[in-house]
Amino acid sequence: MTDAAAAPDTETAPARKLFIKTYGCQMNAHDSERMAETMAQEGYALTADPAEADLILLNTCHIREKAAEKVYSELGRLRPLKQARPGLRIGVAGCVAQAEGAEILERAPLVDLVVGSQAFHRLPELVRAAQEGARPVETDFPAEDKFAALPGRAGGRPTAFLTVQEGCDKFCAFCVVPYTRGAEMSRPVARILEEAQALADRGVREVMLLGQNVNAWHGVGPAGDEWGLGRLIEAVAGIEGIARIRYTTSHPNDFTDDLIAAHRDQPKLMPYLHLPVQSGSDRILKAMNRRHTGAEYLALLDRIRAARPDILLSGDFIVGFPGETEADFEATLEMVRAARYGAAYSFKYSPRPGTPAAEAPPVDPAVADERLYRLQALITEQQQAAQAAMVGRECEVLFEKPGREPGQWTGKSPWLQAVHATGADLGPGQIRRVRITQALPNSLTAELIDTPAA
Ligand code: 5AD
Ligand code: SF4
Repeated sequence: MTDAAAAPDTETAPARKLFIKTYGCQMNAHDSERMAETMAQEGYALTADPAEADLILLNTCHIREKAAEKVYSELGRLRPLKQARPGLRIGVAGCVAQAEGAEILERAPLVDLVVGSQAFHRLPELVRAAQEGARPVETDFPAEDKFAALPGRAGGRPTAFLTVQEGCDKFCAFCVVPYTRGAEMSRPVARILEEAQALADRGVREVMLLGQNVNAWHGVGPAGDEWGLGRLIEAVAGIEGIARIRYTTSHPNDFTDDLIAAHRDQPKLMPYLHLPVQSGSDRILKAMNRRHTGAEYLALLDRIRAARPDILLSGDFIVGFPGETEADFEATLEMVRAARYGAAYSFKYSPRPGTPAAEAPPVDPAVADERLYRLQALITEQQQAAQAAMVGRECEVLFEKPGREPGQWTGKSPWLQAVHATGADLGPGQIRRVRITQALPNSLTAELIDTPAA
């Protein structure tokens, strides 16, 4: 047999095109990257234009009703493409796929395959089945380790996600994650460190450790001792080339002393923390099954800030949770004032089928809208103050990609703020010292104040 005959089809056949649209959280953004890598091995090249795609994947989010409904509107918009290109295959992936499974095929006849958030490593075989006319649905939580089945990581960018933990056992009364992403699972230390090393070898400077409940991560170190996330961060920090470490998303009840210590002792751990509290009212926190009070959350923040005073706090809030009174909502505003956020996300409560809170009588939607408006105004005020306070400060920026203007580059401050700077010698992966010159609502402008290493 000659080499040519042994070569896989994909080396000679023109690349097929894959278009992925991602909804929702960073876990999904990461999953989309891994899906692209999996399908690249099958000869699919990514395209930004759905009209030229042979395969379209919608990587969906089920967290709120609006997020789930967006998928069906998008499917409606894809109908003409499918009519124009009968060979086109359309797949629904992610959390809507996980939650609704075969129902999607009924509701949207143009969908060819459904793949849940735990099974996308099986995409190649599902796509092949779809090409042969089947409409496969894969939403089991398979026992096999999807991470082991996935191909190696592609390089090229200075920042990367690294999944360390998946799933959630907290069962907050409003949340679908424990149902769509399944039980809590920590990846083993050795796998995580191998992947971090491989990322560093490809030039990655910053890793974002990902998990639905990332600070619940636990594992066993090489010496047989129990590790928490703080210890894992120390080990990742020991990898040469990795200059910055972040993690998201955390739950207050899993915040251990070793993680607080890492914020004090580990300079590579960036001073940014996404720690949602959801409400400031103890009555509502109880109804949400959050299992902590507002005072406990604030006391935890005090301990974290004692370890790392400049930490920028981010959070999530839900307004209009069933039973929320004006007094409960005022307590949420008070929480925002007391906790001092540099960034925060707020959502109107959306009942999710199958969750305990979905049974309870809703708050008047007009009242919930008005509360959301007031909360967002307060959060925006705090966010703008945090941005404005940056002007005149010096910090390091990891530059990632070219900006809009010629010669301009965009990167991130230690506090995850977007920073623009101009410099003829700037390039991706450089960590440079800057002085912030201007604060815009969603980004900062800076001037370089160092000379790059030769
Ligand atoms: N309704 C509104 N917001 C929700 N979130 C999760 N579930 C719901 C829901 N049913 C919000 C929470 C969570 C964020 C990712 O989404 O604030 O932290
Ligand atoms: Fe959902 Fe987060 Fe609560 Fe888990 S901890 S149930 S992911 S809101």
